[in-house]
Amino acid sequence: MEKLIIRPETGADHFAVEALTREAFWNLYVPGCDEHYLVHVMREHADYVKELAYVAELDGEVIGSIHYTHSHLSSASGELRDTMTFGPLCVHPRYQRQGVGTRLLGHTVELVRQRGFTHIITYGDPHNYFKHGFRTGRDHGISDPKGEFPLGLLVLELEAGRLGEGIWKFQESDVYNVDKSKIDAYDARFLPKDKKSQYSQALFSVMCRAFVRENEPVHPL
Ligand SMILES: CC(C)(COP(=O)(O)OP(=O)(O)OC[C@H]1O[C@@H](n2cnc3c(N)ncnc32)[C@H](O)[C@@H]1OP(=O)(O)O)[C@@H](O)C(=O)NCCC(=O)NCCS
Repeated sequence: MEKLIIRPETGADHFAVEALTREAFWNLYVPGCDEHYLVHVMREHADYVKELAYVAELDGEVIGSIHYTHSHLSSASGELRDTMTFGPLCVHPRYQRQGVGTRLLGHTVELVRQRGFTHIITYGDPHNYFKHGFRTGRDHGISDPKGEFPLGLLVLELEAGRLGEGIWKFQESDVYNVDKSKIDAYDARFLPKDKKSQYSQALFSVMCRAFVRENEPVHPL
């Protein structure tokens, strides 16, 4: 991966990034996927941060990409804090587990830090992000809008101690609620792919229904 380049996404990358996103997510969390359509619509959304859209390029081919959106935290007393959210982040299946995702995330986290944000918050699989310093919302006193602590609500603290005591509620951009009725029509722009069921979808379904309790003594296995 010596020749890997991490660079800002340009307009010329748009279709390649959406095709790559489709390859990376296809059948992983649901039969088919909607992340390529999400990338397509998020570029026009007010919460999208164009300057933080980055790609990983190898020998002229786009093999990874990351996107960011504005999000916020609100306290019980109505105080608001601006936060950043990333996603989708993906690497082409041929190039996964070779450090590309780590490079994309590491590079852009530094840019977010330079912009003065104190927290990056996203929904994702803890297996992918704990190694990069993310912890669950419960660990940082951050809940979802309902006041619950999903396992997949992940927080990277860029500046420690800025939230103080009390629970803050996280609100992501509404761009992530894609209109699912439009996905199949959009998908027709790409080469046909079979939708199928696989065990990773059941794992994802459990992850979405898993919540983190308050700290308590760990029982050895
Ligand atoms: C999740 C994803 C973005 C991670 O990107 P990646 O390039 O595969 O990630 P990295 O290679 O940087 O790190 C992943 C693993 O590879 C390991 N790794 C890093 N460099 C490596 C190398 N040179 N050789 C072997 N393994 C390596 C890391 O230690 C890590 O291992 P671990 O998971 O056992 O701790 C990518 O796998 C992906 O696109 N998945 C499908 C889409 C998806 O789920 N996106 C995230 C939504 S939450």
